[in-house]
Amino acid sequence: MSHGVKTLGVLGAGQMGGGIAQVAAVAGITVKVFDSFPGAIDKCKGVHKKSLSKLAEKAVITQEVADAAIGRISFVDKLENLTGCDWIVEAVVEDVKVKKDLFSRLAAMYPDENVVLASNTSSISITDIATACGKSASRVVGMHFFNPVPLMKLVEVIPGLQTSPAAVERTIALATACGKTPLKANDRAGFISNRVLMPMINEAFYAWMEGVAEPQAIDGIMKLGCNFPMGPLTLADFIGLDTCVNIMDVLAEGLNNGRYRACPLLKQLVVAGRMGVKSGRGVYEYPAK
Ligand code: CAA
Repeated sequence: MSHGVKTLGVLGAGQMGGGIAQVAAVAGITVKVFDSFPGAIDKCKGVHKKSLSKLAEKAVITQEVADAAIGRISFVDKLENLTGCDWIVEAVVEDVKVKKDLFSRLAAMYPDENVVLASNTSSISITDIATACGKSASRVVGMHFFNPVPLMKLVEVIPGLQTSPAAVERTIALATACGKTPLKANDRAGFISNRVLMPMINEAFYAWMEGVAEPQAIDGIMKLGCNFPMGPLTLADFIGLDTCVNIMDVLAEGLNNGRYRACPLLKQLVVAGRMGVKSGRGVYEYPAK
């Protein structure tokens, strides 16, 4: 089945939304990105330039492809200006209320049922998000990319209870066209990726909190002993410690099990504003370049 997408709308110009916009543009799709946060659009443009130059420098793509991709991406700072799209991927903050509000506005803006409304949520129930779209819940699907989107091969495809088989097939086709490998997971909190990954990261924070080892040793042991590309605490900094807490909260609530509660130290770092790479400090420090 063809995905049938000419113009992709992306909600959110952060690391995930920006990455999704980039891979779609490289695949030849026109992309419109919405973000209302001051400075987000300029930051995203800078990230695209840097990432595409790096990929061209490494001959992953040609300079022509990189330049054409930049030319296919435009930005709007008001949702009502995100018009003319035939597919939307939402990649905003992991907050179910924010997502449901956006999906209900999107369903009203795009009454055509052929316009798929996908969420890049990493753990929130697709079935729940879809309820915001009333009768058109069948076109809501989970399309979960991984960070850094231009490098990571996986897209986790999550059908909600009401998602139509056609929306799922088209999502698989779109992910494939963007150079990714789509794999399906059912709509349970955290799907597969975060149900398995996040408790491991959380456990690394417990090990640090309990003084079992220093962060460098925890990361080194998991890198050298388990062949992970980066240790769990480094990965947490890279994902964002606030996002890790949000995902643990979703797992604890959705799977109704206290063993998924976020580690107190992880929560404390977030309260202190130490969010990871994006705030300049998380477990480790990231001096501005
Ligand atoms: N675009 C283009 N290039 C990029 C890039 C991007 N977005 N991000 C990094 N790079 C480049 C760097 O600039 C660097 O280039 P140089 O070699 O010229 O310095 C290169 O990629 C990184 O090279 P490394 O040798 O350091 O690392 P690598 O190529 O072996 O792997 C990696 C990089 C793929 C990020 C690897 O470290 C890795 O797999 N890390 C784990 C990532 C991961 O687990 N992601 C999932 C997070 S969970 C998630 O996203 C979902 C969720 O729901 C929370």
